[in-house]
Amino acid sequence: MVTPAVRTFSPRVVEGSSDAGTVAWTRAQLAAFLGPRLDAELLARIGVAFEGNRLRGAYADPDPTPVATLRSWDARLTVPGGDVPADAITGIGVRSTHRRRGLTDRLLSEDLGAAARAGAAAAVLTSTQGALYERWGFGLATHSRRLTVDTARARFRDAGPRGTLEVVDRPDAALALTRPLHDRARRRHPGALERLASQWDQLLVGAGPWNGLEPDRLRQVVVWRDDDGRPGGYVVLRVEESWYASGAGTLGVVDLQALTPTAYTELWRHLCSQDLIGTVTWSDASVDEPLPWLFTDPRAVVLGESRPMLWLRVLDVPALLGARRYPTEDALVLEVTDPLGHARGRWRLDTHDRLAPAVTTDAGEPDVRMPAPTLGSVVLGGVDPRVLVRANRLEERSAGAAARLARMLAAPSVAWNGTRF
Ligand SMILES: CC(C)(COP(=O)(O)OP(=O)(O)OC[C@H]1O[C@@H](n2cnc3c(N)ncnc32)[C@H](O)[C@@H]1OP(=O)(O)O)[C@@H](O)C(=O)NCCC(=O)NCCS
Repeated sequence: MVTPAVRTFSPRVVEGSSDAGTVAWTRAQLAAFLGPRLDAELLARIGVAFEGNRLRGAYADPDPTPVATLRSWDARLTVPGGDVPADAITGIGVRSTHRRRGLTDRLLSEDLGAAARAGAAAAVLTSTQGALYERWGFGLATHSRRLTVDTARARFRDAGPRGTLEVVDRPDAALALTRPLHDRARRRHPGALERLASQWDQLLVGAGPWNGLEPDRLRQVVVWRDDDGRPGGYVVLRVEESWYASGAGTLGVVDLQALTPTAYTELWRHLCSQDLIGTVTWSDASVDEPLPWLFTDPRAVVLGESRPMLWLRVLDVPALLGARRYPTEDALVLEVTDPLGHARGRWRLDTHDRLAPAVTTDAGEPDVRMPAPTLGSVVLGGVDPRVLVRANRLEERSAGAAARLARMLAAPSVAWNGTRF
């Protein structure tokens, strides 16, 4: 059998349609995920969303449709106290007849190598395949949690409402309001990512490849403003379950960002005071939402299962560790093992200068030893290194080193990525 050739290209868009290579790539990607079979004209419009991204494919020539796909783009990733250039990866799929032949290995290794050469500090992805990506150095870095509110039970502690709310129907007006709010809010949560224009489009309008670019007409965008008229938060919601049969339907939160506690309270007050609605759910909330504390009865909120969300692969240890800020002054030597080489080494992390932490190579004895995925898990402060010691995923080489590392890496707010990709 001929070994497929790997090719990388940038989609070209002419008059609202993408080029033939992108159409073939998109067709292959949807098929690998058991998606809908769409005609070329629709695929060409879907491919427009990939403009500016890198598309990689494995091609069994002369077939113009790849047998394996991967898509990536440059994104800003929030770390505690700053953000770094990151390689965001999605669309990893292999034709069902070509699996387990190392095609993902080739595409992903190539993408990681190119991203490292281009200066990305880390690569990130989300995955439903929990056992897959550690072999390429990805560690689970953030979780999300489902929240469910029984609106009949939800009595707010403080009096309201305050400020004003507006339902924004026009997508361009909604984007102009929500994007700057998200840009500010995302800087608070390590693991949050800047969103692409196409991600905003999908979020606000709900038109994506899986529904043939049909807008989700049940979606609504609501913006909250303070008494001076300044936007302070927004929620994107949709009716998940009709009120028709029960008289008490379910509202789903697609995205919610609030810059102040008042904005947060008032957006939730709005969600919980809708006629015809008995339940509000949010499946991608952070694991430390203050929501139960808003109510006289915290049991109005059921905290659901927490799920793995963002996987992080360190590509440049000095760039990533040097870009974040640390709450304690200390110095530790971290030994990182990494078969792909990107994070491998003995690294001395010195945080005595809190504004300019130093990361240098060090030949001395390590305080802690860990594989690359463990570094990816702990670097945002979302996973406690002491837990990974107990799981045998991090080795403590000097007494108390894991506790010192935990204090160094602690983040001012919980790691959270609310954007599926
Ligand atoms: C999952 C998928 C991308 C793997 O692609 P692939 O080309 O078959 O993977 P490779 O042949 O490069 O395998 C690389 C390694 O991963 C392992 N692996 C492959 N799929 C795996 C899975 N689903 N879970 C755990 N390990 C897996 C292989 O055994 C191999 O390990 P080895 O090197 O120790 O032998 C492919 O099966 C697929 O397209 N599935 C449907 C779409 C999908 O699930 N995409 C990923 C969504 S996050």
